[in-house]
Amino acid sequence: METIVKVFENVDHLSAYFGEMLKQHIHALPVKRGFTISLSGGSTPRAIFNYLAKHFNESIAWSNLRLFWGDERCVTPDSQESNYRMAVESLISRVAIPKSNVFRIEGEKNPPEQAKEYQQKVIQNVAMINGRPAFDLFMLGLGEDGHTASIFPNQPDLFVSEKLFEVAIQPESGQQRITATPVLINQSRNIVFLVTGESKAGMVARILKKHEGWEHLPAAHIKSINGNVYWLLDKAAASKLN
Ligand code: 6PG
Repeated sequence: METIVKVFENVDHLSAYFGEMLKQHIHALPVKRGFTISLSGGSTPRAIFNYLAKHFNESIAWSNLRLFWGDERCVTPDSQESNYRMAVESLISRVAIPKSNVFRIEGEKNPPEQAKEYQQKVIQNVAMINGRPAFDLFMLGLGEDGHTASIFPNQPDLFVSEKLFEVAIQPESGQQRITATPVLINQSRNIVFLVTGESKAGMVARILKKHEGWEHLPAAHIKSINGNVYWLLDKAAASKLN
């Protein structure tokens, strides 16, 4: 497993690189097996998805993708808070992905039950490595507090859970979330952190330079067993790295 850090002038350049990465990985797969990708949420991916929909609409074989989510807020799919809604608006509604290839987390349902149901959905639809589902690519963001997916620093039980999905609580709002755990994320063939903006620079440096206390952060528990971890950063997010 290697950690590969790439810094880009801006989010468009980062998105272009990510699009090429996707294109190459998808085209390398035998057509019969769909490329499984777990999408991240929050605001960062919106610009990236918009770019992919605009500039990679024709060049990526979108019908070969099978979309999942690494986390979802426990809200209805039409909520402004919904990661699913954000992905539909910025990407899914604009490219040729069959509805049957979109496996959303049903945030509106009972959280503990949905965590179990979604775990089964992933087990049934994602190719296994050593008996566990291994996504071809797992997208992650990074919060200013070091959280990733919805694995928050104040919920260390989630770092070591043997379940693939758990219910988490957003510390400020108390909002319930369904989140993938490191035991699932770390199975992925490619783990890609996509981080932009000055506000993340301190946390990026703390994690990548292993500054004091970094090992207690959720992102420190993300280590790919079956591939590489990529950090795609814009200059602002990388501004404290050297
Ligand atoms: C979520 C995300 C979360 C996000 C980070 C960064 O559901 O909010 O999964 O982990 O990636 O909080 O969010 P921003 O991109 O909005 O800064």
